[in-house]
Amino acid sequence: MAIRKIGILTSGGDCAGLNAVIRAATDAAIGLGWQVMGLRNGHLGLMTTPPDVVELTVDTVRGDLLRAGGTMLGTTTKDSPFDFPQADGTTRDRSADVVAAIKGLGIDALVVIGGDGSMRLFDRLLAPAGIPWVGVPKTIDNDVPGTEYAVGFFTAVEVVGEAMDRLASTAASHRRIMVLEVMGRDSGYIALYGGVAGGADAILMPEFAYDLDAVAAHVRRITHNRPNPVLIVAAEGIKRPADDRRLGGSIGAAIAAGLQNRTGFDARCTVLGHVQRGGSPAVFDRLLASAFGVQAVALLAKGENRCMAAWHGNGIGHVAMSDVVTGPRFVGRDSALLRAARGIGTYIGEGF
Ligand code: F6P
Repeated sequence: MAIRKIGILTSGGDCAGLNAVIRAATDAAIGLGWQVMGLRNGHLGLMTTPPDVVELTVDTVRGDLLRAGGTMLGTTTKDSPFDFPQADGTTRDRSADVVAAIKGLGIDALVVIGGDGSMRLFDRLLAPAGIPWVGVPKTIDNDVPGTEYAVGFFTAVEVVGEAMDRLASTAASHRRIMVLEVMGRDSGYIALYGGVAGGADAILMPEFAYDLDAVAAHVRRITHNRPNPVLIVAAEGIKRPADDRRLGGSIGAAIAAGLQNRTGFDARCTVLGHVQRGGSPAVFDRLLASAFGVQAVALLAKGENRCMAAWHGNGIGHVAMSDVVTGPRFVGRDSALLRAARGIGTYIGEGF
C-alpha cells in the first residue's frame, strides 16, 4: 500500500535529540510528498476525543528544533493502553481505541521514537492491527538492543563529563572523595562512558559486582593513604552495599558514607538526576538523530515494517523489531571502554 500520511510520536522518558529526530523525519517524509501528523504525548494523545495531533510542516520544524531540548510533541511513561486507569480505580484495555484513532486519522504508517519499553508497547499495539511502523532508538540509558548507540546517550555522557570536571577541582581543593551518582536504570553505559571521559578512579555499574572494602583499599592505594582527591562514578542501578542499613540515603550517598567510614577521608555525593536528560543535544546526538530520522522514513518508503533504525560500527542500518523487544541491553565484559577503564587503572568491579 502506498504511504500518503504518517504519524510521528515520542514515547517514554525524554532526552536530548528527540526534536532533531522529529525534524529530520518530517523533512524527509515531506520530501517524498507525504503528509506528517505529530501525535502528542505518546499513546495518550490517541486516547482523547478528538485525538491530540498537530500537522507537522517544513515550517513547523524549521529554526531551532535541531538544537532544542525535550520533545515538542510531549511524551509519557505512564498509563499503558492495555491497563488504562479508570476513574473508579480499576483498569481497562483501551488498546482498540488507540488503533481506531490511528485509522480514523487516515495514518498509513508510524515512526515511533522510543526506548525498548516503548518498542514493546507499540509492537503489541500495531503489529496485530497490521499498521506498518518503524522505530527510532532513544534513551540516555543506551540500553536498547540492536543498536550501539541511542539518541540522547552522548548528551548525558557529556553532562557527566562536565560534572566530573567541576567535581575534580572542588575535590582537589578539599582533598575529598567525590561520588557522582548517575542515571542509567539497570545498565551501566552512562557510568562507564561518563566515568572514562571524566577520569573516574572507580566506576560502579549494575552489571558487575563490586566490594566496598575493595573500593576503599583502591582509594587508600591511589591516595597513598592520605586525604587526596578521588572521583567515583556510581550508577543508580548498582546493588546497595551490605552495611547499607547504617548508611542510608541514595545509593551514591551510601557509597560515599561507606567509603568515608572505611578510609576516614571526607566524602561527598552528588546525584546528577534529570540534568542528564535536559537541554540541547550534543553534536553526536544531532548526527544520530538526523540520520535516524531520515533512515526511518526511508525504511517505510522501502516497505519495511516492524524494524528499528540502528547504529552499528560501520554506520546506519536497521534491525528487526523482534531483536529489539527482548531488551534491555547491558554493558558486556567485552566492551572496549571497559578494557580502557581497566587499563587506566580504574576500579570497575570484582573479578577484572
Ligand atoms: O530511562 C531513562 C531514565 O532517565 C533512567 O535513567 C531513570 O532511572 C529514569 O528514566 C527516571 O525516570 P523518571 O523521569 O520517571 O523519574
